[in-house]
Amino acid sequence: MCGIFGCILKDRDAAPIIHSALKRLEYRGYDSVGEAVLHGTNLTIKKDEGKIDEVHALHNLDDIAGRIGIGHTRWATHGAPSQINAHPHTDCNGQIAVVHNGIIENFLGLRRELQERGHAFRSKTDTEIVSHLIEEGIREGLTLPEAVRGAVGRLEGSYTVAVVSVLEPDKIVCARKESPLVLGVADDALYCASDIPAFLPLTNMAVIVNDGELVVLHDKGYEIRKIADGTTISREPEVIDWTPEMAEKQGYPNFMLKEIHEQPLCLRNTLRLQEQYLELMTTFLDRAGEVFLVACGTSYHACLAASYMFSKLAMLATHPVIASEFVEQHGSAVNIDSTILAVSQSGETADTLAAVGVSRQRAATILGLTNAIDSTLTRISRVYICQQSGPEIGVAATKTFTSQLSVLSQLALRLAKRRGKISHEEIEDLEEKLEQIPDIVEKIIKSREEDVKRLAMKYRDKNCFFFLGRGVSSASALEGRLKLLEIAYAPSIAYPAGESKHGPISLIQPGFPVVFICPRDGTRRTIIGNIMEMKARGASIIAIIEEGDKEIKGLADEYIEVTKGLPEILSPIPYVIPLQLFAYYMAVARGHDPDRPRNLAKSVTVQ
Ligand code: G6P
Repeated sequence: MCGIFGCILKDRDAAPIIHSALKRLEYRGYDSVGEAVLHGTNLTIKKDEGKIDEVHALHNLDDIAGRIGIGHTRWATHGAPSQINAHPHTDCNGQIAVVHNGIIENFLGLRRELQERGHAFRSKTDTEIVSHLIEEGIREGLTLPEAVRGAVGRLEGSYTVAVVSVLEPDKIVCARKESPLVLGVADDALYCASDIPAFLPLTNMAVIVNDGELVVLHDKGYEIRKIADGTTISREPEVIDWTPEMAEKQGYPNFMLKEIHEQPLCLRNTLRLQEQYLELMTTFLDRAGEVFLVACGTSYHACLAASYMFSKLAMLATHPVIASEFVEQHGSAVNIDSTILAVSQSGETADTLAAVGVSRQRAATILGLTNAIDSTLTRISRVYICQQSGPEIGVAATKTFTSQLSVLSQLALRLAKRRGKISHEEIEDLEEKLEQIPDIVEKIIKSREEDVKRLAMKYRDKNCFFFLGRGVSSASALEGRLKLLEIAYAPSIAYPAGESKHGPISLIQPGFPVVFICPRDGTRRTIIGNIMEMKARGASIIAIIEEGDKEIKGLADEYIEVTKGLPEILSPIPYVIPLQLFAYYMAVARGHDPDRPRNLAKSVTVQ
């Protein structure tokens, strides 16, 4: 997601330091860049859409006098990439500059409120409200730190902000909730940043800022306070002994593992989508004569799972279709009554865009779910939703899958409500469970990673695996298989469990590993039957089960437990986590680089 950097230097200009720090944050992915530098009571801002080198060529990012400043790389979430939407954002008088990373959920309400009180907004971002809220605090007589504290206290969602102002030109004020923030401490400088690589070549002394804390940086040092009550906290810097490469991966050995661990945060982000887009997309789905869910790879598996959600919750039959087959299979049948929901992390996958292109020519309605605002998919969709999972660098998609599922389940739930297809109690229960999913995923990662690692060590020499699930879990089985074969190079098979008897069971010999995905849902009795069939032929059963499921524990050679009491329809989100970890540790155990599997590309832009 967005990158933040700020610095207070003793006797050098900040702008070139900000410029080089932003370059080090490039790996996070971004579409625009900007900086604000204080020089006494002068505040100079330079910002634009584009890569840092392009913006520098146009505006000379190094050429501003002043020792205190903040910088930002933007990954668009609210408002397309443009100069106006690039950070920093200012208040009405241009006296306060703010950079932000995160998503402010209640920004529409706050913006309306501020507009009614006469504030003029320039951008379409959620961030700009923060500068106007601070402006109000200052007008009421608060100091800059207090005004920032008051402003962030009104925000719902996630944020790290860094703020400078000509009204108190000797400081930077930062605050954090959920989005990351670290301080760098050197003899002749203080830094704040979204992550350590930004300042690592300048200092290896860092202070981690915790959730709910506010920091004031000034010439004499830093002060940390609690946002809730303003009390001061003392925290000494610690030595960071990471190499720059390790720092980019935040200490994880590779991006895939980092991204698996980021899923709780990404899932929280998906619960902060703007209502009006979810509502609009629901309206299009509701009115559609027929709905095709079109995608490739992992995104296709999310579509497959979503087809169960739409059908079970909203009684809407949808057609999940692999994009490269779409034109041949359905191209001639698509018409003005068809709706295509194209799902693509990159928004640039050639097969998905080709399917969309043909459908547009035939006057179908195009809806998009993507991670990249301003991708081709967003430009050709009637409505699009951003899955909000931030840049995914590992070639094997992980956070993409769970984020897409969270958005798709929200759409299915809304449609169910709108159509009056499920009871109030069911809706409330599902909404409550959906809110709990990020915590559940966090718990599974924390408590099961070691078990899965052990499992991978046990099975690392097996050449082929079978993945089986029923109902919505057949999509999880396909995704678990895809992860394993693409990064651990284990040529594996996945089937809806019922279909396994129609051919693939002939492969089973004693010791053949079969992974069963078995949440406690309506398919339970039949999946137990399938386990027995495989067991009778000597298969080694690995079951992903609900916590405390004694019956399946008794049948399985190995099992991984997942939190109890989840509705069937949301189960692919937590149940895929052990499968991602299994593929990851299998790849590592076999000596492969999980981030860069051979022959694969993150975004496939040829048909
Ligand atoms: C490639 C990637 C996969 C991804 C698929 C679809 O094959 O390696 O990880 O799932 O493309 O990508 P998209 O960007 O359209 O979701």
